[in-house]
Amino acid sequence: MGPAGPCELRADFRENAAQGANGNQNSKPNKDRIMSRRIFIFDTTLRDGEQVPGAKLNKRQKIEIAQQLARLGVDVIEGGFPCSSPEDLLAVKAISQQVKGPVVAGLARAVNQDIDAAWEAVRDAERPRIHVFLGSSDIHLQRKLRRDRATALEMAVEAVKYAKRYCEDIEYSTEDASRTDFEYLCRVMDAVIKAGATVVNVPDTVGYAVPDEFGEVIRRLKERVPGLDHVTLSVHCHNDLGLAVANSLAAIRNGANQVECTVNGVGERAGNASLEEIVMILKTRHATYEAHSEIRTEEIYRTSRMVSRLMNIPVQPNKAVVGSNAFAHSSGIHQDGILKDRRTYEIMKPEDVGIRQHKIVLTARSGRAALKHRLSELGYKPEQELFERIYSRFLNVADRKKEISSQDLNAIVEIEMTKVPETFSFHSMQIMSGNTMVPLASVTLLKESVTLTDAATGNGPVDAVFKVIERIVGQHGILRDYDLKAVTMGKDALGEAMVRVEINGAVYSGIGTSPDVIEASARAYLNAFNRFFANGG
Ligand code: KIV
Ligand code: ZN
Repeated sequence: MGPAGPCELRADFRENAAQGANGNQNSKPNKDRIMSRRIFIFDTTLRDGEQVPGAKLNKRQKIEIAQQLARLGVDVIEGGFPCSSPEDLLAVKAISQQVKGPVVAGLARAVNQDIDAAWEAVRDAERPRIHVFLGSSDIHLQRKLRRDRATALEMAVEAVKYAKRYCEDIEYSTEDASRTDFEYLCRVMDAVIKAGATVVNVPDTVGYAVPDEFGEVIRRLKERVPGLDHVTLSVHCHNDLGLAVANSLAAIRNGANQVECTVNGVGERAGNASLEEIVMILKTRHATYEAHSEIRTEEIYRTSRMVSRLMNIPVQPNKAVVGSNAFAHSSGIHQDGILKDRRTYEIMKPEDVGIRQHKIVLTARSGRAALKHRLSELGYKPEQELFERIYSRFLNVADRKKEISSQDLNAIVEIEMTKVPETFSFHSMQIMSGNTMVPLASVTLLKESVTLTDAATGNGPVDAVFKVIERIVGQHGILRDYDLKAVTMGKDALGEAMVRVEINGAVYSGIGTSPDVIEASARAYLNAFNRFFANGG
């Protein structure tokens, strides 16, 4: 059975579609009753999402994100692929022990050793699930697995039966389902359901499907495999053709009741279906889909920021729902319309996804009590030690910025919550730069309270700062990627730098935030080196 059974219905009122989701603010909703199906949200950010090169998370970071996913209200957290490494097994185990609420799933190939590892990882969860997968398309069977259909079917059944000895909740995925012969797909589904699978998943592994066709596959599967009425029917779409969300919605329309997705759509290649897009489409166009999720949408923005920061994957500014421009109205006509009535150009409210504008602003003179109060409004209740770190960074930023907005605070909290152990910590820097001189940087770092200062010239101020950091930490790095953006609004916005640095043959990502973009870059570069050292470097 899925997180709460194969099909949950609730009675809802049909919203006034002509006015969009905000339409019932000032007008009476149209009171047609509709039956709304619950769609279970299976989050695979920590498994499929983490397969992005350079986005590897350590145990602490995985727990951090899993806790936020639980606050967001996802139904299932796929914590990882426990057989892939002992670290991943331990990370999924820690999530199982510490994160309450959602089902915790561990992925396994259809072999006993993988299933043993997955069970070891999820056995302590409140609601454990083993997720078994095996290729089903001819190309996977012939070229990758070198098995015929009958043998693979037997493997699938044996794997489900084996997993079932451990755990009641078993998900089975027919990898590459969208390129699988339909008759064979029906046979596999029927057989794994009879063997005890409680969730069957139809992955569009290579992002090949298109919505009409994928929806049709789901409809026909439901027609042909009677057992599907008693289990959860799931889909898992990749975004190679930019259709992952559209395909997931087509599947929902045709009877799927679980969607697998990731925060910010992160994942292999072009990524997975984006959680926030699916959830906000179901909310905004609820009447169209007659389906809903139980996600606490006000947690979306914070979750997006946390995943972006910990995985070091920037969110594109025009990304739907969570991009920095998603709610920015720049043209005069639009601004005029928004001022007269937000519904003219806004189909979702920024507050719905957790972007809040507060009237009272914090400044350097706001004390601990005001900061604590605002943090609690934003949903943070940091313990004393973390609070003190947040307070000291808040003062540092507030000294240089007149007013501290909610986004600034979110960024400050994220930085402090997601810190890696610092072998070297940033103290200060000076830059001399201009278009007629060679830039010169001097940087001071602390190593266990010993002050280390050095200076260097470079091709630009950022290059000079990076060179000094390398000199002080005694390690050379090759900059592979550098991204700089404003994370908050206005001329005195907080700048966020993200870097990927190759150190001793491995790539480490780093992130740094400051109102000064050179300092943000320096902090990001140092952060990458600290990850290297934390990794035993
Ligand atoms: O894309 C895919 O097929 C997968 C499965 C393991 C579900 O990630
Ligand atoms: Zn996948």
